[in-house]
Amino acid sequence: PLRPLKLRPYAPADLAAIYDICLRTADAGGDGVKLYQDPWVLGHRYAGPYAALESEFCFVLEDSERVEGYILGVPDSARFARESEAKWFSLLRPLYPLLPETDKSEDAQARRLIHAGCPAPSTAWLSQYPAHLHIDLLPSAQGQGLGRALMEALWAALRRAGVPGVHLGVGAGNPRAHAFYLHLGFTELEKVEGRFWTLGYDLR
Ligand code: ACO
Repeated sequence: PLRPLKLRPYAPADLAAIYDICLRTADAGGDGVKLYQDPWVLGHRYAGPYAALESEFCFVLEDSERVEGYILGVPDSARFARESEAKWFSLLRPLYPLLPETDKSEDAQARRLIHAGCPAPSTAWLSQYPAHLHIDLLPSAQGQGLGRALMEALWAALRRAGVPGVHLGVGAGNPRAHAFYLHLGFTELEKVEGRFWTLGYDLR
């Protein structure tokens, strides 16, 4: 039986649950717990700075016991690149020194992401799709229309802020999420064959 899940704005007490969901959906949408020794490192890249810096564009799904999904958005990826660098990644790097190039573990690669920060794509379409997002639901919350509901909550917040469009990146190993985005009306902006797609959604 489906349980009712409530969609509401992010609150700081949700942060640990969001990091956990980030990890549990990190393996092309499947559970990534076994891939990482450090359970925080991926959340520091894909969850923490969004929640800390752009909380009005973050929403969660919860039942009476726990948070089971989130959408994390930023309205202006160029501004987020600057702010996340100044207020997040530059502070984290001393805690996460780079590991040798020869280390191909997921932990080492996540550290490289922290050192790369979150630069905005330098591309002609950025002015039309300046926002970006990450969305993850635990398996118990998937397939019930809740991913669409989270997306619509973010779209409404972005429209209120006057944002013309939103982009996202999805790995080639996650065709299910890719098909979900196309079904919702996203179109392809860029493709790196066999690696990832960049998709865009027009909010006007
Ligand atoms: N192919 C075609 N249509 C689909 C698919 C699919 N694979 N999946 C969902 N849909 C359709 C549904 O039928 C539904 O249609 P309708 O609203 O017209 O009736 C609509 O899309 C919405 O489906 P939801 O039930 O809301 O989808 P769900 O709640 O499962 O959310 C999501 C999809 C976000 C991919 C979820 O399954 C998930 O979190 N998966 C694991 C983590 C993940 O892969 N996250 C994406 C990472 S990439 C990134 O964040 C940018």
